[in-house]
Amino acid sequence: MKVLDAAFVQGFIRLCDDGFKQNWHERNGGNLSYRIKPEEVEAVQEELSYDKPWQPIGTSVPDLAGEYFLVTGSGKYFRNVILDPAANICIIQVDEKGESFRICWGLVNGGRPTSELPSHLMNLEVKKRQTNGRYRVVYHAHPTNTIALTFVLPLEDKVFTRELWEMATECPVVFPDGVGVVGWMVPGGRDIAVATSQLMKKYDVAIWAHHGMFCSGEDFDLTFGLMHTVEKSAEILVKVLSITSNKLQTITPENFRDLAADFKVSLPEEFLYEK
Ligand code: 13P
Ligand code: ZN
Repeated sequence: MKVLDAAFVQGFIRLCDDGFKQNWHERNGGNLSYRIKPEEVEAVQEELSYDKPWQPIGTSVPDLAGEYFLVTGSGKYFRNVILDPAANICIIQVDEKGESFRICWGLVNGGRPTSELPSHLMNLEVKKRQTNGRYRVVYHAHPTNTIALTFVLPLEDKVFTRELWEMATECPVVFPDGVGVVGWMVPGGRDIAVATSQLMKKYDVAIWAHHGMFCSGEDFDLTFGLMHTVEKSAEILVKVLSITSNKLQTITPENFRDLAADFKVSLPEEFLYEK
């Protein structure tokens, strides 16, 4: 099978286009990765090549040794992925130590995988361990309202989680574990990857102050839907804060407990504090 005919590649391209249409991907902003299933690698094997050099990942991901990933290219624009996938995305393989990668398909006009590859792979490694291999997608975007909130809310997990939960009843059901926040750091390297992957042990969402958001999930729909839900909630909060600094009413801790019981989710008490 041709790479571009594979369902996982089509799903990847669709997410890139959906994200661009949401205005989350100015210029080359954002990146996406997918941990490919062995049977999916097998199905496109005829198009994979193994003559490109190994290059250092910049961190170590031993639990991903030998695996294949579909990732966006560094400096490539999300809006161009649907127009010319083979020039803007690539399939990489990680080596047996989990320290290097090589490009097996794509980036036909040159280039390298996203500069956030260390964060993507470290997050995928954490999620693979914690979900018994279920989670396969890591998505980084620059959604406007979420970024705006990082200038006005304290950069604390418990504040962001509670404020975002209060803005829409579905939120605690969609992200019951809450969201983590990373204070401003230089992007693109190992340090921010370590900080983000620490948070991914607890959450499916990590917000990077003054930069953007990382989400992780089982598949493209769930991961895009998670980003969409958090950003929608952030938009409501931006609007509320623009109108008033004083909410007249909101969803209370007791309301959250009732919701948790009916929807059969467990909401950590650490986020249901009295204000
Ligand atoms: P890349 O173009 O290298 O993926 O970087 C975009 C980005 O959003 C960095 O955080
Ligand atoms: Zn970014």
